[in-house]
Amino acid sequence: MVAVSKPRGTRDFTPDEMERRRIVEKKMRQVFESYGYREIATPTMEHMELFTMKSGEGIIDETYSFHDKSGRMLALRPELTAPTMRFYMEKMRMNPKPLKVYYFGNCFRYDRPQKGRYREFWQMGCELIGTDKPEAIAELIATAYHVLKGTGLKDIKLRVGDLELLRSFIKKVGVESPEIMRLIDKSDYEGIEEIIGGREGADEFMEFLNCGDFNSLKKFFDEKDVERIGSVFEWLSAFDVPYALDTSIARGLDYYKGIVFEIDAPLLGAEKQLCGGGEYSLLPVLGGNDTPTSGFALGFDRIILALEKEGYEFPSSPEIVYVHPIGDEMRKEAVSLVTELRGKGIKVEMDLMRRSMQKSLQYADRIGARTAVIIGPDEWARGMVILKDMKTGEQKEVKREEISKFL
Ligand code: HAM
Repeated sequence: MVAVSKPRGTRDFTPDEMERRRIVEKKMRQVFESYGYREIATPTMEHMELFTMKSGEGIIDETYSFHDKSGRMLALRPELTAPTMRFYMEKMRMNPKPLKVYYFGNCFRYDRPQKGRYREFWQMGCELIGTDKPEAIAELIATAYHVLKGTGLKDIKLRVGDLELLRSFIKKVGVESPEIMRLIDKSDYEGIEEIIGGREGADEFMEFLNCGDFNSLKKFFDEKDVERIGSVFEWLSAFDVPYALDTSIARGLDYYKGIVFEIDAPLLGAEKQLCGGGEYSLLPVLGGNDTPTSGFALGFDRIILALEKEGYEFPSSPEIVYVHPIGDEMRKEAVSLVTELRGKGIKVEMDLMRRSMQKSLQYADRIGARTAVIIGPDEWARGMVILKDMKTGEQKEVKREEISKFL
């Protein structure tokens, strides 16, 4: 036991874990960039107000917030959409539209920690600013889908809904919206029944919430009300993205409107949601005009969990070359050799513990070195070094200047 442990809901990552995370991160970035998104970064902390403006004071309970030494109320970002909108208002308003930005960063939420739910977690996400054409929303959803597929994930399920339809139905039933939206977001059907049970249209509302098929939507609405989601579906097919209608997507954050979507990895069980997003409105509360905005964020940690669960074979990193000098007089020669090899982009370690050859090679084996280069004074004097294949144990002499050919 160490005297001080890490805070609840946070994690340390080993070199092996970081290597896996970086491999996946890189693949995800490539797909975002192939869709024309460019990366931005914003501060880890923001004024608390940025998050309460739209979501209300309730969000304070879920946020890591504190007063700084000047008495300002700051918060560790619980997400990156509001910070991106603030940044847009300050610096990017004049950029050509559509503006496509993506981000990768840690977020903090005072959640109840469990597998797949952390207090510090990483999101990669994007915002699309300046267009709400159905093909733009479909392309946004296609980006999310293809970023996830691009990681190597096999089993993911995309659900798309329309908050206009959901909200208009709630109004029809005549209930207060924030509480029922929260229950719908949590799929708490008993809670929903408790609120709307006995009201006129309650049965129809429950039927609507479970309506998984676009044609049956027309039973509840006029043709023109379902036109938009219908059009997004057509474009999704053009982008070759398989989807399902889910009229019950409420989204947890209060800024959403219009088309919303979520992507799950069913294998993950309770915390299966890998992605959430849709159209939203935040610019007007920040003093801007109502430029259309939409976006999504992917739970990076959950993607790694899902890949592991699917048995994904992470590519192994290039193995390291290990250099062992025989005797103290060869140490400087070892330094010049490793410097040269590192300059060629080869991963190299040399003995830094002044170990015996046997101990040194045992260590090389443990760190997974594929080749050891042994520098002996006699061979060096003849311009040669010894290469040892760590798998087979085979040894051969090679010319010092030709060494990189063999690595
Ligand atoms: P969100 O649904 O709150 O949306 O979060 C997006 C994703 O982050 C979730 O689907 C989940 O995978 C992951 N996530 C959330 N909380 C945790 C947690 N405690 N531990 C691990 N992973 C978590 C947003 O944050 C919106 N800003 C998305 C967006 C962007 N909408 C428009 N633009």
